[in-house]
Amino acid sequence: MNDPEPEIIDLKPDLGDFRAEFLRGMTSVPKEINPKFFYDETGTRLFDEITRLEEYYPTRTEVSILREHCNDLSHIAGLIETVVELGSGNGEKGKLLMNCMPDLKRYVFVDISMAALKKALDSASDNNKHIERRGICSDFSGIDRILDHMFPEAKMVVFLGSTLGNMEQEEVIKFLNGLSGVLNRGDLIMIGVDLKKDKYTMEAAYNDRKGVTAKFNLNIIARAERELSIPLSPRDFSHLAFYNEQKGRIEMHLVALKDISFELDGVTIEIKRGERIHTENSYKYNVEEISENLKKAGFQNIGVWKDSMEKFAIINAQR
Ligand code: TRP
Repeated sequence: MNDPEPEIIDLKPDLGDFRAEFLRGMTSVPKEINPKFFYDETGTRLFDEITRLEEYYPTRTEVSILREHCNDLSHIAGLIETVVELGSGNGEKGKLLMNCMPDLKRYVFVDISMAALKKALDSASDNNKHIERRGICSDFSGIDRILDHMFPEAKMVVFLGSTLGNMEQEEVIKFLNGLSGVLNRGDLIMIGVDLKKDKYTMEAAYNDRKGVTAKFNLNIIARAERELSIPLSPRDFSHLAFYNEQKGRIEMHLVALKDISFELDGVTIEIKRGERIHTENSYKYNVEEISENLKKAGFQNIGVWKDSMEKFAIINAQR
């Protein structure tokens, strides 16, 4: 008998959201674009490629930590019925987690990219067929409400890939408090964070020699051109990524290579040559900073797994 088609719940932002957000970002000072719009089909494919780049150490380091602690994981997750993975991408880590936690009843992939979600649900089907799989296509803004209603059972929320690092400090606090409010006592949370380290290593991860990260960053311009019919070209921008020491974050920008002017919904937008559009931050942390935030949000029994080079950390905590 064939498995029933895994269920996907579609809460993805629509084109109207992209239009409104893009206009808001172009009229902000400095200009910015919300990074959740990176992940159209092309962006999803490029990001997959980023995770395999030699310079991009976070993914493989995180995966090696998970492998090393596979046994510990089966231990701490003893009573957990459901894992909800936020920003599950292509589902490779999910597959690994399911192998480490074979007694799970349900695995829920949550991602903004429908393409990634389909891939995750597909790839997960070869293994651990007894674990029910679900997909939710959504950003993280309303995730606490989703969790509150849908999965009352004992659960573990997994947030890997240093995606927490893409949030501002206020968002991190709001996010952790929101989760804390909908989790039950004993529920678990697992967070992967990129650690502060030498600037050279961090900057190389966002400036790969093959130029895949540049293509990924520039794709958001191509997307605006295509989906919003704006006369923009990725050729008129260049990729810029650097570590901002003071703020403890990698900043990603698009730099205009010439003066650009266009109209969107009756508003004239001017981009001057050399002007930057801020597309993403990736905050780098110390374990203490995250633990502190977790405690403040009501989590306890905080445990930390790191690789031997201390590049990356996976932090576990209990509600
Ligand atoms: N969470 C990833 C990170 O902060 C996202 C990411 C990696 C990313 N490379 C990127 C985002 C390049 C934009 C551009 O590392």
